Order: sequence, then structure tokens, then C-alpha cells
Amino acid sequence: MYKRLNREFEIDSLTKTGKKIEYGIDTPMGFAGIKYSYVRLKEDPLLKVIPAKYRDRCTFSLMEVNHKIPAHTDSGIEAIINFYMTDDRMITQFYHPRDDAETVQIANQTDGAIFHDKYLKKSDRFMAHSKQAYLLNVSHPHALVPTPDGPKPIRRRAICMQLLDTSWDEAIDMLKETGYIDD
Ligand SMILES: [Fe+2]
Repeated sequence: MYKRLNREFEIDSLTKTGKKIEYGIDTPMGFAGIKYSYVRLKEDPLLKVIPAKYRDRCTFSLMEVNHKIPAHTDSGIEAIINFYMTDDRMITQFYHPRDDAETVQIANQTDGAIFHDKYLKKSDRFMAHSKQAYLLNVSHPHALVPTPDGPKPIRRRAICMQLLDTSWDEAIDMLKETGYIDD
């Protein structure tokens, strides 16, 4: 459900260029959830993880999280690479859905879904650190869970590279080809 890339990445000269999409709620203290923004950044060092012939499938956005995120699948995408910029100590928890899982969709979701806890069984999980990069299969339900020793308020930032029209298995093969994941 995830693979850590075997090298680290420094993200510099990052500029937000607009709002892409957000999932969350407006509270009296402001927005709580996950926001994606369009960005301008030095893409070349990040694109190196993908063989040249597939780089036109990659799109970049900035992900910002300030709240725990319930189990969900992403809309219209299977493989993403997150380049983490913060030591926020949040756990990315994957789940196996039960066969009888009931899901709900929230605003802005297309084929993605939110899962009720009782239909989920915990699977793999990881805690990413600043400069690490992970390939994630976001077609499996996953949640973001804060830990007690993390920053308060929560502030998590990552560059999210979507691999459009790319299956998990294809993504694995691509990163093996460039040498960024080991067997
Ligand atoms: Fe997600």
C-alpha cells in the first residue's frame, strides 16, 4: 500500500499559485482538514524518480493538513508520490475495507469515498519525516492520525505528485526503473 523512496528530497523555491481543492469543514477557528494548492516549484529533481517517457503523467500540488483526516480513498487516482516537508508525526494508516463496507461521499469527491470505522480493518501504516518521499496507493482506504508528540496545532505540508492514468503496479515498475525504490 506504500513504498518509501530510497533517497531524500529538499523542496525549495515553492510558490502557491492558486487553490485546487479542499476537503474538510469550516469551524469557528477556521478551516479544518486538507487543502491542495497549485504550485510553482523546481520540478526537475522530483521528476527524476519517473522515467522520462512517463513524465507527462505527473502533476504537482501542495498538500496542507491541519486536522486528523478520516479514512477515505482519493478521487480518480491510484498512485501518488508525496514529498514530505514537515516533521508533523502524523501516521498514515491504511485499512482493508470489509466486503460489506458502506461508504459516503462528501462535497468535491467523485469516485473517492469516506469509510465508517466499523467497516475497516487496520493494515499497513507509516510515519513520514521531513525530506522523505513515499509512493502511496490511494485507492486503498487511508487516514491521517495525529500522535500526542506531534505539533499543536497540526501543520503538515507535502508536495503531492499525482501519477495520472497509472496503476500501482505500473508505478512500482517506474520507480524500480529509475532506481528510487528497492525490491
Ligand atoms: Fe488521501
